[in-house]
Amino acid sequence: MKQVTQTKPLEILQTIMEFELAGVVRYTYYSLVVTGSDKENIVNFLKEQANESLTHAQLVGEFLASLDGSPKIGIAPIPEIDDFSAKNILAASLANEKQALELYKLLLESAKDVNVAIEEFARNMIEEEGSHHLEIEEMIRNAN
Ligand SMILES: [Fe+2]
Repeated sequence: MKQVTQTKPLEILQTIMEFELAGVVRYTYYSLVVTGSDKENIVNFLKEQANESLTHAQLVGEFLASLDGSPKIGIAPIPEIDDFSAKNILAASLANEKQALELYKLLLESAKDVNVAIEEFARNMIEEEGSHHLEIEEMIRNAN
């Protein structure tokens, strides 16, 4: 019975790992192509986000493995962009962060009253992911 109920959180963890790995590629690419006058700060921010995505992908993958799940190789689809202005790239970054947050919330929902360890993991990640939104929104307001 317990194994059946755990299938879904494991699937979501796999999806999140693939999403975070896509984040590594997205943010690295964004840091290379972004334009604008405050470029240096934004490039640094995007590189930090790429690193954070990698850390998260590793954390999620390790957690998935610790639950006897078997992480599969894969990466989420990466949307194309054709406007490389700081404002547009930051908007795409914000969308990425919001999507990540939604996935961790989905994970939390799937584990509620089923698995305390997954619940706790999801709560911690939600706290980490949630903290970036205000920062990016502020950067979008200041970008040109
Ligand atoms: Fe993340």
